[in-house]
Amino acid sequence: MASGETKLIGQAVNRIDGLLKVTGAANYSVDFPIKNAAYGFIVKSTIASGTISDIDSVKAEKSPGVVAVISYKNAPKLASSGSLKGGVIFQEPKVDFFGQNVALVVAETYEQARGAAALVKVNYQRSTPVVDFDANVSKATAPNRDRSSSRGDFDTAFNSAEHKIDFTYETPIEHHNPMEPHAAIADWDGDKLTLYNASQGVSWTQDSVATVFGMKPENVRIVSPHVGGGFGSKGSTWPNVILAAMAAKMAGRPVKLALTRQNMFNSVGLRQRDVQHMRIAAASDGKITAIAHDTTTHTATNSEFVEGCGGLSAMMYDVPNSKVGYRVLPMNVIVPTFMRAPGESTGSFALESAIDEMAYELKMDPIEFRLKNISMTDPSNHKPFSSRATEAALKKGSEMFGWSKRKQEPRQNRMGDYLIGYGVAIGSYPARQSGTSAAVKLTRGTDNDVNASVELGASDIGTGSYTIIAQTAAETLGLPINKVGVKIGDTTLPQAAGSGGSVGAASFCNAVSEGCTQAIAELRSKSNRQWFAEPSLAQLMEAANLTEYQTRVDAKPPEEAKKYSCHAFNANFSEVWVNASTGMARVARHVAVTGAGRIMNAKTARSQIIGGTVWGIGMALTEESVLDPRWGNFVTRSFADYHIPANLDISDIDVAFIPEEDHIVNKLGIKGIGEVGIVGVAAAVANAVFNATGKRVRNLPITPDKLL
Ligand code: MOS
Repeated sequence: MASGETKLIGQAVNRIDGLLKVTGAANYSVDFPIKNAAYGFIVKSTIASGTISDIDSVKAEKSPGVVAVISYKNAPKLASSGSLKGGVIFQEPKVDFFGQNVALVVAETYEQARGAAALVKVNYQRSTPVVDFDANVSKATAPNRDRSSSRGDFDTAFNSAEHKIDFTYETPIEHHNPMEPHAAIADWDGDKLTLYNASQGVSWTQDSVATVFGMKPENVRIVSPHVGGGFGSKGSTWPNVILAAMAAKMAGRPVKLALTRQNMFNSVGLRQRDVQHMRIAAASDGKITAIAHDTTTHTATNSEFVEGCGGLSAMMYDVPNSKVGYRVLPMNVIVPTFMRAPGESTGSFALESAIDEMAYELKMDPIEFRLKNISMTDPSNHKPFSSRATEAALKKGSEMFGWSKRKQEPRQNRMGDYLIGYGVAIGSYPARQSGTSAAVKLTRGTDNDVNASVELGASDIGTGSYTIIAQTAAETLGLPINKVGVKIGDTTLPQAAGSGGSVGAASFCNAVSEGCTQAIAELRSKSNRQWFAEPSLAQLMEAANLTEYQTRVDAKPPEEAKKYSCHAFNANFSEVWVNASTGMARVARHVAVTGAGRIMNAKTARSQIIGGTVWGIGMALTEESVLDPRWGNFVTRSFADYHIPANLDISDIDVAFIPEEDHIVNKLGIKGIGEVGIVGVAAAVANAVFNATGKRVRNLPITPDKLL
């Protein structure tokens, strides 16, 4: 299926679930009308490290409507080691971070549970927590999971270089904060558990819940048809899900447990603070000879997570000498987790800022400098890229943006109080496909029209999975899109990938395409006829004398792709205006150009890139979670003080895709766009701030105090 031949795939089809959502008919996790449900509210620790000496729940238990107060004192023993992402779950009286779950109140109503939770008295024996990163950073050590890499001889190349950049770039802790906070309803039927849960991948949740309770996976059903955003935070199973199930078991009835917005700052992971030491060496002709990228970050005391900041630095530029390293400091803070383009978004800020600094050092145009140093082979593994749109994206973006009007010298473009600057950065994210099964069910009616239902345990976290699955099925089966029903988000459906690591579109659509193609082939052989023109599905089913037919595929990623390095690539261009009196920076215009293989839906894809861009602008200018170094609590715990960009903060965002037909990455040529949209955005903004003001801000966010 080559592009140009498609009728539906690639088109700007409206979301097929749009009406359900805007009318409120779409059920998100706790919306499911489960009878006799009780409500949970979590009590959180008010110390960052220590032991619970006692929990006095007498008052809470006597409070109106209270069904149960659950803590380490009465919780059932769990089958797994007792710790999951986000800490121990009522298995021992140990506290590892501020805001850890220490008790759960279950009551007839949400308000009763919340009221009673305030009456639970927890006494602690405190120990001294490690919560001050700067004061303890010298204790950071190599992580257990080694992601370091090297090639050539960095030290020799760097030491003898004509031009060097040697700077450290910092990004703060950030929080995901999807619009829908994490929430679940747990409902037991004997030894079978159903969880209506906000999940990025239902089979991922099924596996972890089954492990924690020591159950057979088939006895755990996850239902998650609509999810209000995830960004990585709903990719893992956090204690809230386990608590809901535990509470429902103890209460003997279904329990609804929804996190508050404040809960979101200490319950479901975060993006870790990264201190990234960059060293780049180049010759006077503009060839980069060496890049080293050393990241120091923090993890939890009870488990390790380190995002791969240096991944891009090892593969983006054709550099013979390279070194990537990591150090990590365990702290009494919740364990970090995946957050949109984990590693690449923060790593690209460091790499692409340093590359910009080197372009200025060499007095070269930053686009020309980048083009001089890229190649079509991935230097980290010597495999050819299956396709790489960096050059096309830089060229197209530069035309769309009007890069030729840029002044190489900073502070040369001024309008009244405003200093105006242009910045550019490139980015990338790996393209992957995960094994996914799908069922295709066809029904032929009396009027001889055919309806299809495609069913797979995929997820739609707000990105448009429903719609691209329907487009793929309708296109392949030759049906109008309104004749295709899509069932996803349930572990009773064939097992599929989830929405994480940008694998969703490639995994879902290739499986659905394969399933539909297989259905047609099977019907053809059953119809046992010579067709002189391409028959319709209705004709095939009629010839086979069938009113119903179903088939199923287990689609796998292609072997051929393993011989290549498969990535989406982008280029970002930002125009920033900085108020010379107040230091306030604003992105006046932004151009994002992406080469991500086949784009399944022009409208939802554009929205994805806009979302990534807005987040990148937030990362550059406003987002920062502030930890109190004395107590280890987040002082930023609402949208009043954790600043995500609002409409008025965002101006023109222009999105373009480079047409790419990549038949290596997977059959449909889909690379995925969930993560790549944010990669490089913050660097483009920071580089524009430098071009505007002559000030290089190496620690995000670029708040006014840093520009005055
Ligand atoms: Mo993505 S950070 O794998 O949701």
